[in-house]
Amino acid sequence: MSSLCYINGNFVPAEQASIPAMDRGFLFGDGVYEVVAVMDGLLLEFERHAARLARSLAEIGIANPLPRERLLEVCRELIRRSALREGSIYLQITRGADTKRDFAFPKGVEPTVMMFTAEKVLSVNPLADSGVRVASVPDLRWARRDIKSVSLLAQVLAKQAAQSSGAFEALMVDAQGVVTEGSSSSALLVNDADEIVVRPLSNDILPGCTRAAVLALAAERNMKVVERTFTLQECMQAREVILTSALHFVLPVIAIDDQPVAGGKPGPVCAALRTLYLRHAMATAL
Ligand code: PDD
Repeated sequence: MSSLCYINGNFVPAEQASIPAMDRGFLFGDGVYEVVAVMDGLLLEFERHAARLARSLAEIGIANPLPRERLLEVCRELIRRSALREGSIYLQITRGADTKRDFAFPKGVEPTVMMFTAEKVLSVNPLADSGVRVASVPDLRWARRDIKSVSLLAQVLAKQAAQSSGAFEALMVDAQGVVTEGSSSSALLVNDADEIVVRPLSNDILPGCTRAAVLALAAERNMKVVERTFTLQECMQAREVILTSALHFVLPVIAIDDQPVAGGKPGPVCAALRTLYLRHAMATAL
């Protein structure tokens, strides 16, 4: 089944879907988005994604056209119509299409809501067994990384730089050598004291939904979680380095900049967190 789109109330095949050229998402990157995993035809971490979407919209002053109930309804209808069993729903809300290119918010313009389904095997992921290689890149983004903005040029360039060097993901690092996050994932490490070290939430990183779920599960199991910043150097010496994201769940890092980390193989904490996360995500799927 090919991708199905939802645009402002209409369901259309992806090949026939279009957005006006004057849409502010296109002109300014003036919008926010979410990516939600679907397994067994159900939405994973729906509540966290719905809450983060509402927050992102509020932060940029767009009235939420998809409050929780409506969002759930449209997502379920997309899944039903496309017969999606496993994959994702992408959803983007922009400030809408105007007739002029004015930087300031236009008056009387309705937000554009665009969603689409994508089929993808999520339940089996060879990267969870092999581990992934990452490449460090400077974090070139703006000062409100907590907003899930569609302005993703810095992350596009980061991911491309990583993949050009044969790595799977970019690990973004600030001018002080402190790690922020992956280009499309949150980063955690496990140190020699068996502590899970994670950067605290702030404007510097996206509040990852998978990160939040994993940290809650770790705390429930009395695993020690320490929220503090950490450097690239610490990652190089860590017992484990872990990435979390909506579609890859929990992945072990085995090399940074072509140097093996964590003994060059996936570690037990990552494997345990992945299992816990999958069990929890399926048990709470809607
Ligand atoms: N990206 N940090 C950044 C910069 C991200 O873009 C993402 C997700 C994450 C992980 O957040 P979550 O666990 O809620 O997926 C962290 C999505 C998957 C994307 O852009 O495709």
